[in-house]
Amino acid sequence: MIPGKGTKIMTERLQVLYNRKPCYDIVFTSSFQTLWQELDTLGCGGRRICILTDSRVDGLYGGEVLELLTGRCKKAVKYAFPEGEAHKTLDTVQEIYRFLIAEEFDRKDLLLALGGGVVGDVAGYVAATYLRGIDFVQVPTTLLAQADSSIGGKTGVDFDGYKNMVGAFKMPRLVYMNLEVLKSLEDRQFYSGFAEVMKHGLIKDTLLYEWLIENMYEICERDMTVLQEMLVRSCTVKKLVVEKDPTEQGDRALLNFGHTIGHAIEKARNFELYHGECVALGAVAAAFLSWKRGLLSMEEYYEVRDMFVPFSLPISIDGIDPQEILRLTRSDKKRESGNIRFVLLKKIGKAVIDNTVTDQEILAAIQEIYFSDEDAHA
Ligand code: GLY
Repeated sequence: MIPGKGTKIMTERLQVLYNRKPCYDIVFTSSFQTLWQELDTLGCGGRRICILTDSRVDGLYGGEVLELLTGRCKKAVKYAFPEGEAHKTLDTVQEIYRFLIAEEFDRKDLLLALGGGVVGDVAGYVAATYLRGIDFVQVPTTLLAQADSSIGGKTGVDFDGYKNMVGAFKMPRLVYMNLEVLKSLEDRQFYSGFAEVMKHGLIKDTLLYEWLIENMYEICERDMTVLQEMLVRSCTVKKLVVEKDPTEQGDRALLNFGHTIGHAIEKARNFELYHGECVALGAVAAAFLSWKRGLLSMEEYYEVRDMFVPFSLPISIDGIDPQEILRLTRSDKKRESGNIRFVLLKKIGKAVIDNTVTDQEILAAIQEIYFSDEDAHA
């Protein structure tokens, strides 16, 4: 565990709009202590609440959060499923339906997703579909979930090996972030989440990108004040994008920067690499393609690539077959009329969607990040 600095932070909040109307708040704070207060404001006093979590997070925070709710709402219960991407399935969803039915949950009750991206996506999908939809709140406990997946209402599960193939848009009623949990994340997990923060700077916010570089040391040290500013700035980028295009008809696809090749690598390596590690690799490949297209200068490409290194994120990978990665990018669902919707960088801080990227260009970008045994012995 990284000690981090013990600085207490002042609670901050952002309001997310949906169809131009206030929809939910994102709360950035340093404990679970004010969670009930937030839920009470949403009128949860007379409702049943089911905490949905996974086996790992349950062991860390499940008991504390259950205790906070018990005696305050109508009934508080908890359901934990085994951790890991392998359990982001319709089978897990069915098990949760059965639990909710046994606990007599009705449409007025509420689900609370306590965990990382998998928990949030599964819980959100259950919330979207159980009794045709019940309320849910997100309490993300990883940097990846805090910076990205808990915001914007994308929910779903993997299906037949395809990531997020079945799902629904379902906005949460609240996103409650206890930043203190970031201190106990293992390094790989922390930096994996950081890749999504970096992505937000690269696609939309040059000043955020520069700030991340200036504050590199404090971020790696997990200084709480700096992490709070980082998350507020990063979530502001995401909030503005999802407010403008909640169901990904256009600009929201910019958030998929690094994900086309990233998802393909994630699948080819059987999810043994972390999501953010694959996004970093995909981002380097997309930045390379942007350079080759004459959008970024060579200096900018190398700068973007090398910026992942101090955050312990990979910029090259071995043990893949570039042709297989290309094939998998074709089966990724981010396609429009047969073409891949590729996200390129026009400059650092400005991304664009391009439907004309060819297989040859994608293959060249995959070759750029591919580190073969021959390279090692050259
Ligand atoms: N994680 C990408 C999105 O929320 O659209």
